[in-house]
Amino acid sequence: MSTKQDNNFQTIISHAKEYGFVFPSSEIYDGLSAVYDYGPYGSELKKNIRNYWWKSMTQLHDNIVGLDAAIFMHPTTWKASGHVDNFSDPMIDNKDSKKRYRVDHLIEGFAEKLESKGKKEEADALVEEMNQLLAKEDFAALKTLIETNKIGCEVSGTCNWTDIRQFNLMFSTEIGSVADATNTLYLRPETAQGIFVNFLNVQKSARMKVPFGIAQTGKAFRNEIVARQFIFRMREFEQMEMQFFVRPGTELDWFEKWKEERLAWHRSLGIAPEKERFLPHIKLAHYANAAVDIEFEFPFGFKELEGIHSRTDYDLRRHQEFSGKKMMYFDPEINQSYIPYVIETSIGLDRMFLAILSSAYEEQELKKEDGTSDSRTVLHISPKISPVKLAIFPLTKKDGLPEIGKELMEDCKTAFRCYYEEKDAIGKRYRRQDAIGTPFCVTIDHQTKEDNTVTVRHRDSMTQERIPMSEVKKMVLGAIL
Ligand code: GAP
Repeated sequence: MSTKQDNNFQTIISHAKEYGFVFPSSEIYDGLSAVYDYGPYGSELKKNIRNYWWKSMTQLHDNIVGLDAAIFMHPTTWKASGHVDNFSDPMIDNKDSKKRYRVDHLIEGFAEKLESKGKKEEADALVEEMNQLLAKEDFAALKTLIETNKIGCEVSGTCNWTDIRQFNLMFSTEIGSVADATNTLYLRPETAQGIFVNFLNVQKSARMKVPFGIAQTGKAFRNEIVARQFIFRMREFEQMEMQFFVRPGTELDWFEKWKEERLAWHRSLGIAPEKERFLPHIKLAHYANAAVDIEFEFPFGFKELEGIHSRTDYDLRRHQEFSGKKMMYFDPEINQSYIPYVIETSIGLDRMFLAILSSAYEEQELKKEDGTSDSRTVLHISPKISPVKLAIFPLTKKDGLPEIGKELMEDCKTAFRCYYEEKDAIGKRYRRQDAIGTPFCVTIDHQTKEDNTVTVRHRDSMTQERIPMSEVKKMVLGAIL
């Protein structure tokens, strides 16, 4: 990350804390690494993104239904899914500082430093060699690569490294009171498996016909080793996943369709096209026959925001094998039974939150009519998901203006989130709402008492217009639906 990128990112993190979006978890105890809490406006924004995704998947698709599976699952689930054996990253420990690193992050961090010193070719060659060795799982050669490049620990500064070992990313715990291996439970590292094991329950109970999808949102847990990018990489996070079950042989068409559909969803929230790109996976996971990431340009560069994967029949087939229960679907249109193929769309809710926050954040210099200048910090969040939709300001605390404002508040608050405030100058109140992304502010003044009109101030353009108070609710509803 360049210094400028780092500064921008730090500014957004500070803003998120100051305005009640995101706090470090258990901060009074100095926080817990890679775990965060969402504050008053953050929890609203997060809920709104989740609801928007849920609605776009279930309500707007006749052939997608929802599920809310438990976080704990039978331990065999994770054997069948491959997570017990394969969900691990190669790690290396520094013997002096005892600090543990993900090997790819350690080498990439060093390559970034080379690049910032103008040695781009050297950096690219190093990353290329690392990728080849990782693909071959040649850990001895990877350790040699670290040693010959004299890649040191950021804490101790030494190159005194252990051997490289695989480190499973699942958190485990025990069920019941007796701790033995058979009682080991895992906190789910993805929500997808809850969908796969319930495939037939859902298909039969909701009378679904292939092609159809199952959508789910919920917490997932990964013991990430390098967790340094705010809510980008967390140990406890939330996923929004949809598994779409299709007839074998049709999966690549559906894969293309879902790529386009997901990109359109991102656009519908106002994310600029140049801020996102597709990154096709060159090296596919053993169960996939196509995969692509939607990358977003975070303040620290383009990184994965969402994955779209053609997972073949791998998961259902493995659950059939491990459970001994049939995972077949009888397709009445072709009179055949088969295990459906699956297209998965999987997006991190917290990453989407960060994408929204960082693309919405702007510090603006404003020229005033008298020639002086002013500034404001504004979040250009789509009204569909902004934490507060409407702020209501009586111009003064007297002359019956607060009563009118409260009446409007009562009328609107059952339909959407409103905020009422009487304190401070109007300009100051506008700034506070800009900083949390409220799209509309309404001021009630003495003219309101005469003709029942109010001044609406629009967040992005800062333009103001006078409209009948009876139109306010309709105007906001028009913008958020
Ligand atoms: N079921 C497929 C799956 O879990 P993944 O690429 O490992 O695939 C999907 O994760 C999405 O979950 C990612 O694109 C990312 O948005 C989010 N995600 C993964 N690990 C995360 C973490 N440690 N912190 C926050 N979000 C994460």
